[in-house]
Amino acid sequence: MKRIAVFTSGGDAPGMNAAIRSVVRAATYHDLHVYGIHQGYKGMIEGNIERLEKKDVGNILQRGGTILKTARSQEFMTKEGREKAFHSLQAYDIDGVIAIGGNGTYTGANIFQEEFGVHMVGVPGTIDNDIYGTDFSIGFDTAINTAVEAIDKIRDTADSHNRLFFIEVMGRHSGYIGLYAGIGSGAGTIFLPETKTSIEDLIQLLRKEGRRKKLFNLVVVSEGNKNGGAMDIARKVEESVGGEFEVKVTIIGHLQRGGTPTCGDRVLASRLGYNAVEALLAHKSNIAIGLQNNAIVHTPLLEAISKENPLNEDMIKMTEILAL
Ligand code: F6P
Repeated sequence: MKRIAVFTSGGDAPGMNAAIRSVVRAATYHDLHVYGIHQGYKGMIEGNIERLEKKDVGNILQRGGTILKTARSQEFMTKEGREKAFHSLQAYDIDGVIAIGGNGTYTGANIFQEEFGVHMVGVPGTIDNDIYGTDFSIGFDTAINTAVEAIDKIRDTADSHNRLFFIEVMGRHSGYIGLYAGIGSGAGTIFLPETKTSIEDLIQLLRKEGRRKKLFNLVVVSEGNKNGGAMDIARKVEESVGGEFEVKVTIIGHLQRGGTPTCGDRVLASRLGYNAVEALLAHKSNIAIGLQNNAIVHTPLLEAISKENPLNEDMIKMTEILAL
């Protein structure tokens, strides 16, 4: 292996730059030529590729977003699109590719490897932490810290006015951000896609806490939960207990995707990027790099995309007890 490429795809995540830097530096150390593909699979199809040398990745470790930009490509989902992408790689003699992203990125990498035999190695990069084969994905730690910082601020004003806030966090179909941000901010209730918390249960709880004069003012809502978004839940709660509680809604939104990565994400990204290069050098292919119990693991891409990264049941149970 002499020439490898790296790209970021899907939603950006803080720490992706640290992973790119790690790939470029580790590969350069091993005398490999590294190419950066701009805008993920879209850029691969369009041949938007340039050489990356070690100086090109200076001063990016601490920056959010991704210097390679990212995209979600419909064209790569077609055989014709993938064929074009393969020709782009051939033009640069690239025989190994490191794909940093989430499940969609892995799915593309898996089929691309099967069809064209390009050595593909996945690195988990998404704030959602919904990837099988790793305890944590790049960006998750920063996202939950951003969410908790925002919720702490909301708590100050909620407390001062005795208001009930519904705060929506991201996560697509996964409750990881909601669970961690909910625990970390001491939310009274957390609505997760994975649990059956109902609006009726919350209304009962609010009435009970109201009788005990307990201050209950933070409800964290993961997008993708079965009751709807924070707006929908807040509206229904207000219809029942509007006279007793003043209800407000905050949607944290894309704030969770940006910002300087935490040290945890920088270290994770550095380890995963470095080990992705090591894997390519060892002629490993069609695998995802992950970190489990502080050890680097390899998971076949097919396995990674066909399994879920479930929430820890004990943690879910604990949230109910700690909110007493
Ligand atoms: O996958 C990351 C994520 O931020 C999800 O949490 C969210 O549902 C989605 O991306 C938002 O996507 P977009 O930035 O395309 O609106």
